[in-house]
Amino acid sequence: MRPREIRPDVHFVGAPDFDRRLFDALIPLPDGTSYNAYLVRGRDKTVLIDAVEPAKLHVLEGYLKDVPKIDYLVSNHTEQDHSGGIPWVLERYPAVEVLASEPAKPMLADHLGLDATRIRAVADGERLALGGKTLRFIYTPWVHWPETMSTYLEEDQILFSCDWFGSHIAQTDLFVDGVDGILAEAKRYYAEIMMPFRKIVQKNLDKIKDLEIALIAPSHGPIHRDPSSIIRAYRDWTDDTPHNSVVIPWVTMHGSTELMVERLTAALVERGVTVFPFNMATADLGQLAMALVDAATLVVAAPTVHVGPHPIAFGAVVLANALRPKVRFASVIGSYGWGSKMVDTVKAAVPGLRVEFLPPVIAKGLPRAADFEALDGLAEAIAAKHKELGLS
Ligand code: FEO
Repeated sequence: MRPREIRPDVHFVGAPDFDRRLFDALIPLPDGTSYNAYLVRGRDKTVLIDAVEPAKLHVLEGYLKDVPKIDYLVSNHTEQDHSGGIPWVLERYPAVEVLASEPAKPMLADHLGLDATRIRAVADGERLALGGKTLRFIYTPWVHWPETMSTYLEEDQILFSCDWFGSHIAQTDLFVDGVDGILAEAKRYYAEIMMPFRKIVQKNLDKIKDLEIALIAPSHGPIHRDPSSIIRAYRDWTDDTPHNSVVIPWVTMHGSTELMVERLTAALVERGVTVFPFNMATADLGQLAMALVDAATLVVAAPTVHVGPHPIAFGAVVLANALRPKVRFASVIGSYGWGSKMVDTVKAAVPGLRVEFLPPVIAKGLPRAADFEALDGLAEAIAAKHKELGLS
């Protein structure tokens, strides 16, 4: 396999993974993913940017078969889907020096057992001359670990961004123009790993806003030939203003909660609010996370199981709390048989969300007329709150 040219002396040496179906043992990958790595050759020095997931190391090995010398390995991010191949690279190229951010140096030692003497920390803004090509290291923390950095190739105006701007898609085409066809895959990745650090992502976007960028070469998915479109998407996802939408993760045991979800959904739609209901018994957690990127309100809908919310619906609460979306309002609806502390349990489980709780609607057994009226009232309250924020 020969490295695939992106620009003169800049090559792709990564691996698509068409068969991977789950990321982090959490988020489904309907389109697979890829682990990208790049080879940059200057007149004097050769650099490998990121290594690949260990399961695809043989692909990197194939690309590097006829590359006799690598001087530096730039590790933009310590997580193993990008760094897992580093031990092999160090063995194959005994003189290679690993370059990483200051906080990454101990993390690489911890996660990969690397010899710290093989790692050199580079400073934010530091340049590395390769001979006719110059790399600049730009600290971009929390996309999505604290140590992450991006690497900018000045002469070719390529930003090697690692996770951010990446998308979970396996394909053989190297490039994408615009975001048609990859927006959902990019949003899926943003939602899972970068949304919790939304405010810092905003700062990172500001940090690169004056860079001349011809290509964004991430470490998952295709290379962006129109960087402005994916940057615009990130601006929208990280923006403080939510959309006029409600996410309802729900589950039902005997049908009561389902009836309540149907009524609330209809009442919200009548009031011009977009609703994303997810039956948690079968839902794709990636779709749920993506809907949470934009939503103004989260309504958890569950029957009571042993006084608490049904565990499957509660899982969605735990996930939302971990992903820290920009939701402003929340509520709980559902049913119980003989007693329920469901509302208190949900409220206590979301310290990561800055939400105003709207009055819950909890029915004893089958929902009755008064419960349906209360659901209409909840829809009215949600629509009014959205209107106050200027959402339409
Ligand atoms: Fe693609 Fe944070 O790893």
